[in-house]
Order: sequence, then structure tokens, then C-alpha cells
Amino acid sequence: MGGIHKLPASSLALLFIISYFLSTINARFTPSDNYLIDCGSPQNTILDDGRTFKSDPQSVSFLSTDENIFATSDSIPENEKLHLYRTARIFDSESVYKFLVFQPGRHFLRLYFYPLHHPSYNLTTAVFTVKTDNLVFLHDFSAREKTASHFKEYLVNVTSDDFSLVFSPLKKSFAFVNGIEFVSAPDELVPNSATVVSPPGVFNGISDYDFQVLHRINVGGPMVSPKNDTLSRTWMSDSHGYMMFPKGDKLVSVDPSTITYPVGGATPLIAPNQVYSSAASMEDSGVSNSNFNLTWEMKVDSGFSYLIRLHFCDIVSTSLNSLYFNVYVNGMIGVSGLDLASLTSNLAVPYYNDFVMNASAISNGLIRVQVGPSDLESPIPNAILNGLEIMKMTNSAGSLDGVFSSRTNSGGVSHTTTILEATGVAVGAIALLALIITLIRSKNKAKGWNPDQNSSRSWFLPINASYCSTLLSGKSKSKIGYSSVFSTMTGLGRPFTFNELRDATKNFDESAVIGVGGFGKVYIGEIEQGTKLAIKRGNPRSSQGINEFQTEIQLLSKLRHRHLVSLIGYCDENTEMILVYEYMANGPLRDHIYGSTLPSLTWRQRLEISIGAARGLHYLHTGGSSQGIIHRDVKTTNILLDENLVAKVSDFGLSKTGPSLDQTHVSTAVKGSFGYLDPEYFRRQQLTEKSDVYSFGVVLFEILCARPALDPSLPREQVNLAEWAMAKQRKGVIEMIVDPKIVKSICSGSLLKYVEAAEKCLAEYGVDRPSMGDVLWNLEFALQLQDASLQLDSPEEDDNCHAKTKTDASEKSKKVDEINNHSDVSVLINDDSGVVVGSPLFSKIEDFEGR
Ligand SMILES: *[C@@H]1O[C@H](CO)[C@@H](O)[C@H](O)[C@H]1NC(C)=O
Ligand SMILES: *[C@@H]1O[C@H](CO)[C@@H](O)[C@H](O)[C@H]1NC(C)=O
Ligand SMILES: *[C@@H]1O[C@H](CO)[C@@H](O)[C@H](O)[C@H]1NC(C)=O
Ligand SMILES: *[C@@H]1O[C@H](CO)[C@@H](O)[C@H](O)[C@H]1NC(C)=O
Ligand SMILES: *[C@@H]1O[C@H](CO)[C@@H](O)[C@H](O)[C@H]1NC(C)=O
Ligand SMILES: *[C@@H]1O[C@H](CO)[C@@H](O)[C@H](O)[C@H]1NC(C)=O
Ligand SMILES: *[C@@H]1O[C@H](CO)[C@@H](O)[C@H](O)[C@H]1NC(C)=O
Ligand SMILES: *[C@@H]1O[C@H](CO)[C@@H](O)[C@H](O)[C@H]1NC(C)=O
Repeated sequence: MGGIHKLPASSLALLFIISYFLSTINARFTPSDNYLIDCGSPQNTILDDGRTFKSDPQSVSFLSTDENIFATSDSIPENEKLHLYRTARIFDSESVYKFLVFQPGRHFLRLYFYPLHHPSYNLTTAVFTVKTDNLVFLHDFSAREKTASHFKEYLVNVTSDDFSLVFSPLKKSFAFVNGIEFVSAPDELVPNSATVVSPPGVFNGISDYDFQVLHRINVGGPMVSPKNDTLSRTWMSDSHGYMMFPKGDKLVSVDPSTITYPVGGATPLIAPNQVYSSAASMEDSGVSNSNFNLTWEMKVDSGFSYLIRLHFCDIVSTSLNSLYFNVYVNGMIGVSGLDLASLTSNLAVPYYNDFVMNASAISNGLIRVQVGPSDLESPIPNAILNGLEIMKMTNSAGSLDGVFSSRTNSGGVSHTTTILEATGVAVGAIALLALIITLIRSKNKAKGWNPDQNSSRSWFLPINASYCSTLLSGKSKSKIGYSSVFSTMTGLGRPFTFNELRDATKNFDESAVIGVGGFGKVYIGEIEQGTKLAIKRGNPRSSQGINEFQTEIQLLSKLRHRHLVSLIGYCDENTEMILVYEYMANGPLRDHIYGSTLPSLTWRQRLEISIGAARGLHYLHTGGSSQGIIHRDVKTTNILLDENLVAKVSDFGLSKTGPSLDQTHVSTAVKGSFGYLDPEYFRRQQLTEKSDVYSFGVVLFEILCARPALDPSLPREQVNLAEWAMAKQRKGVIEMIVDPKIVKSICSGSLLKYVEAAEKCLAEYGVDRPSMGDVLWNLEFALQLQDASLQLDSPEEDDNCHAKTKTDASEKSKKVDEINNHSDVSVLINDDSGVVVGSPLFSKIEDFEGR
């Protein structure tokens, strides 16, 4: 008996744990793009939900306009809760906000309008169009109807790298806006298909549409404000404004924490539990003859189709299978006999249903949603609704307002073109970022290196910030200050406060230091519930440092990959420059290969780590984002291992601006570390991703041979690992220098393939080196060969593999001494640079290594 009871109980518990876990991990959403602007405001505005809306004059770089007209008022009526409404920006001519898009896909666009008083502009008379390249949001919009605020919310699928929000005044009129949100939304918010009620069927391809959210209602409950919704949505209470016929409703609610999200299906992103924990049900639900519908009627614009999302959660039943009801949309059956229990297997589990209402099926500009008892034998006739969303779909003209497409000009035509031309260059952030990337990527732009030159910048930084700044402000008419270009970019991961990080590191205690780099010290820190972080604190910055820091964060936060150490957040309070990374429990790869007491890694582990690192670099080069990034400092201390020994590449990105972040440390001027440096890069200062490939070749030999890339304590010919290994390889005696701890376990095929990959990486000329993709392929092949040799599972075969290696080795061992004695000093840098690596330089090299 006991056994019978136990099983379902434990599986239920498991289900509960799983679903609880799922609902917890989905509970927070961090948007990759997060632009919040308080237009016309002289200072940042923090809303009660904790979000900071950046001051608009500061974010002027997003904006191409030729005017700065602001309206301000402190006398916003009490009920106009939002501080955003206190200021507005006014445009006399077409003006464009242009946002960089880090993550294509669904985005919320939220616009705030409130016609403030201005001495020379009567904002209630403004008439303007708001649009983007292929979509009209508002056509000849006017805020004159009421003096109240206008809030417009859209869900847009952004497929390009930037998003231009165009404010285009009607001829002789002007435009204004009080606040803008442009924020990533989870793609799952919009379904692919939905039920069509008339004619009955299924509507596919919903994701091709853009939407305006017209109504979002927390039925039966209070308003849910942005601070209680991880997507910062507002769920209106339905207690007013929505007609209900007859008034036979009974509001029910439960503690939100009793809501259990299902495995698959609704998540807190679909709607927060406050929405599911309240509902409207039927008044006399216990009475057997009660038979009526609960009805909601909402005004919509005619001529558009609508996506209607209904949220349900059975918080009224006391047992399963006691609630069946019908759902109607505009008088037509949507769901017959909806049986929540059979869909969710439990009470208090959220469920939602999507319907599409074709424009042709809407009359009187009304959408009517009804729920009522089904014809099925319900034990207790009842019906519920927990939440309701109505979203307008784009029409065939690509508009959410009127029938004009975004190509149609609503006014100010001639004016428009000139401003666009004048400000085209000034689209600050975009142009600048593109410029930086282009210049960094360009292979031949850099000047030849002159070792006597004292400017650290001309060495590895093809451009510098002040150069950008001049370039931009010189060409733009809107006086774009470089310093402000990135200041409002908020799609940067989590901002940390300085105090938070100071607490996490026990006031940056020396005992918390886990590394020191050119950028500054790296601390281990612990925040909420013991989450460990690696906190990289830059030396106090110069004014230029600020810009570069911002650029840095921006690039970094774009990069997400299993084999890259993730940037979690940053802190840029006052003069602080702090980057917060995921903590890598097993530290630098180097410590696992030599120079420490850590247990030695097996050959297979080393192969997997090499493959992981290669993947990370491959991702950097080919760009998970649209542009490739050159690491510039690939070495075994920049490859970190997590608790499962998964390799992750770190310290990328910083390498680009490293020199100028800290101008007092001359040693950081030369990016890259001796022993890893691409000789071609040295000679000609041509920076390409093939320089990383070279460095990676050195790393591969380091992993194989378990010795540093440079070891000045060794005999001259052995100092430089790359040279030495290549010499051995040319003579076919590479086995001689393989780490003795693993040499016996390496199958010769695997070794051959691995060394072949490493050797190709070290080719003299970049063009002869493989891409990281090719290297990756070879390493994976090497792993397969190794696994295959083990799978034979025959000790003899295994021995053969090793015996062969040994024989080969002994045959060649005689040659080895000879070669050693004849090899010359490796010359790292050729003559035209004027620098030869010899013993005098090694002292310097140690400095570099200490980075
Ligand atoms: C602004 O224009 C509206 C509509 O034309 C008018 O009713 C209102 O008095 C005007 N306000 C001011 C301050 O001129
Ligand atoms: C956005 O549009 C692109 C191109 O039409 C499509 O491939 C993608 O699935 C859409 N994304 C979403 C979230 O709808
Ligand atoms: C919103 O969340 C806060 C805690 O973050 C909670 O105290 C409050 O009750 C919530 N409001 C609603 C309407 O549930
Ligand atoms: C509920 O509404 C539907 C559609 O409008 C209608 O067909 C049905 O008769 C109504 N039921 C009751 C009991 O009024
Ligand atoms: C609406 O119905 C019309 C005619 O039946 C059809 O051409 C159109 O594609 C439908 N639109 C939507 C959004 O279903
Ligand atoms: C570079 O040169 C300038 C003047 O020529 C000098 O003031 C400065 O200290 C030098 N910087 C370095 C790092 O040597
Ligand atoms: C930056 O570049 C500009 C333009 O090339 C140059 O005039 C300036 O001296 C450079 N600044 C530094 C600090 O290198
Ligand atoms: C190489 O040099 C070592 C001493 O440096 C010497 O003992 C050895 O005999 C030399 N080998 C050959 C082949 O010259």
C-alpha cells in the first residue's frame, strides 16, 4: 500500500521541483537592447520600478536633428504618475533616433507623449508621423484630444543592426516626444500560429507581423505595474473602462506564490503570476441554473486584424475536472468546453490561448470576449478569465495607423532630405562603432612601426578616441560630443553600483586579488546567495578612458559564447571602470599544464580544452555578431577553465583599447605577449585574425610540451617554444619534447594531427596559416583519432600505438642532439624593425609575461 502511495507523490514532487525550477529561471528577463530615454530632460530619471531613463541632451548622439527645443513642466497632474512626462523634446523638422541593435528579434517600443506647456509651441496642436524604415507607428498623430498623456506600446521584429525611429512633422507643424523605450523582448512573446474564429481555422505566420498593444488587462485583479513584471509591462485593472454585461462577475484571487508555471507553455514572461492569481468568475457559480456569459468589450481601430491573447488559470475549482466553459470572440465560438484541468493537469497552473480576429470580422470597432458555462455537464456551471491582451497587427501597407506606408511622406518633404543629408554622418554611435571596427579590422591601414616613436597608440591602436571625436564633430552639424556617444548605451549587461562591488570584494581587499592585468587588478567577489564573480577593476581613468571603456563594454556585451568568459556587468560610477565577469573556478589553463602543483591534465582533457579555446576564438573571428574581433593576446593565461574544465577565452576586447586605458603602464603598450607574437605582425604591423592563429599555435605547443612559450632560463635554442618545437617537428622528432606525463598515452595519429595543426598555425606568413575553423577541425580530428585508438580496447593495439611512438623516437634521438647544437638563436623580429630578441630583451619580456 505504502509503495502505491509513494510513487505518485514523489513523481509529483519531482514535477513540482522541475516546474518550480523552470519558472524561477524564466522569472527574470535581461534585455540585450535596453534604451530608455527621458526626452528633453536635463538629468537622468529613475522610475519607481528602478529603471533609469537617460537624459536626452546627453543621448544627443543617437539623435539626428538640427534643433534642441525642450519643454519642461513641474505641474504634471498627480495621476500622470510618470516623471517622464515632465519634459519633452520638440522637433521642427524630421528627426531620427537611431539605436544600435545588439540582438535582432522582438523589441518593445514604448512612446510617451504629454502636451506640456511651451511659450512658443502649443503642443496640443502638433501633428506628426512616427515611423521606421518599413513600418508606420503613428500617422498624423495629434495629442490634442485630451490633455492627458498618451502611451503607445509596440512589439516590433527588428531584423537589422539598427533601428531608426523617425519623427516627421506634418508640413508647418512640429513633433514632440516625452519618453522612449526601445527594449529587447523575448521572441516567444509572439506565437507562430493562432486560432481563427471566423472562418474557423488556424492562422500561421503571425511572427511576420508587428503589433501595437492596445489593451492588456489583469482581469479581476489590481493594476500590475512595470516593477512587478520582468518585461516592464503594465497590466491594467479591468475594474473600470471595460464594459461588462451583465454584471454577474465575482472577482477571485489567490496568493501569487501559489501559481505554478507548467513545464512548457506559459511562463512568467508570458504573464507574471499576479495576472494568473486573480480572475473574474461567475457570481452565482454554485447555482445550477446560472447560465450567462461574462463579457468584455474593447474599442479597437477598424480596418486592422487583431491578435487576442486570453490568460486562464483555474484558481476557483477545489477539485480537478469540475470546470468546463466556452470562450467566444465577437459572438463566435473560440473554444468549446475549455477544460483547463486536462490541459494543465493541475489547479493553479497558467494557460493561455491565442486568437486572430480578421479585420473583416470586426464591426463597430469593438472586440468582444465572452466566457460562459459549456453545454457539457459541469458539476458547477462557471467560467473564468484571468487576463486579456489585444494587439493590433500591421496592415498590408506596413502600418499600425492608417493606410500609408512609411515610404509615403506626410509632410516637410524638401526639408526632410536636407536634414537627412546634413545629419547622415552624425548618426553617432553607429558610424563611430562601424568606423572603429573597420579601422581595427583593416589590414594595411596602420603605419609602419618606428620603435623610437614614443606614442604607444601608433603602435597597436590604429586610431584613437580623440581622432574619432574630431572626425565626428567636424562633419556633423549637431555637435556630437564623442564623450556622450556611449553614455546612454544601456544594453550593456547589468550595471553594478560601486558599493555593491566594494562589498563583494571586502573593500577590494588584497586577499581577494586573483589576477593582475594591464587593465588593473582582478578580484574574486561574492554577491547574492554566494554567486561568485571575477571583478576587474581598472585603474582610475582619464577622460578618454571613459569613452574607450564604454566602447569596450559595448563590444564585450555583444559577445556571448560557451567558450568565451561572459561579461556579466560593469560599473562606471565616477572615475571607476569595473568589469564584472563570470568566475572561472579552475583559473588559467597554464596552471594546469605546468608551474603549479595541480594535477596534470590527460591528453584527452588537453585536446578538449584546445578545442574549446579554438571554438571561442573561432567565434570571435567569425563574429557571433556581424564583425569579427581579433583577440590580440592569445595565451595560456587568457584561457580559463570553469568548474568542469571547460575552456573559455578571456581578456578579449580589452586588448583593443588596453594601451590607452592605462597610459602609465608602458608595458601594456605592446599588445600581445612575447613568445606568442606573430612575427609578421611584428614586422609589418599588419593585424589580422591570423595573428591570433599564430599565438594559438604557440598555445597548442605549450599544452603539448608543458613548458612556457618563453623560458629564458633554458639554453638559447630552447628559449622560444615556437622556434624550438618547429625545429623538432621539421626533424620529425616532436615526441622528444612532448610532456613526459602524457607522452605514453598519446596515440601517434592523434599527435600527428595535433602537431600538424599547431605547425600550420605557426606559418611564417599569415596567408599560409589556417583559419581558426580549420584549426578547430584538425583538433577535433585529433580527438577522434585518440578516442578511436582507445575504443579498440585491446591492450596490444594500445601498446603498438605507444611502441611505434617509442621506436620513432629512439630512431631520431641521435639526430636531436645534433640539431640542438646547431640551431641558431631564434630571431623573432626581423631587421627592419631594428629590434632583435636576444638576452637583453628577456628582462623586458618577463614584464610582459607578468601581465
Ligand atoms: C493650444 O491649442 C488648443 C487647440 O487649438 C487651444 O484650445 C489652447 O487654448 C491652446 N493653448 C494655448 C496655451 O495657447
Ligand atoms: C523576425 O523576422 C525574421 C525575418 O522575417 C524572421 O526570420 C524571424 O523569425 C522573426 N523573428 C520573430 C521573433 O518573429
Ligand atoms: C509587486 O511586487 C512587490 C515586491 O516586489 C510586492 O510587494 C507587491 O505586492 C507586488 N504587487 C502586486 C500587485 O502583486
Ligand atoms: C454567450 O455568448 C455567445 C456568443 O455571443 C452566445 O451564442 C450564447 O448564447 C451566450 N450564452 C448565454 C447563456 O447567453
Ligand atoms: C482576412 O480575411 C480576408 C478575406 O477573407 C483575407 O484576404 C485576409 O488575408 C485575412 N486577413 C487576416 C489577417 O487573416
Ligand atoms: C613622449 O614624448 C613626449 C615629448 O616628446 C614626452 O613628454 C613624453 O613623456 C613621452 N612619453 C613617453 C611615454 O615616453
Ligand atoms: C589622436 O589622433 C589625432 C589625429 O590623428 C592626433 O592629432 C592626436 O595627437 C592623437 N592623440 C593621441 C593621444 O595619440
Ligand atoms: C652537443 O653539445 C653538447 C654540449 O653542449 C655536447 O655534450 C654534445 O656532444 C653535442 N652533440 C653533438 C652531436 O655535437
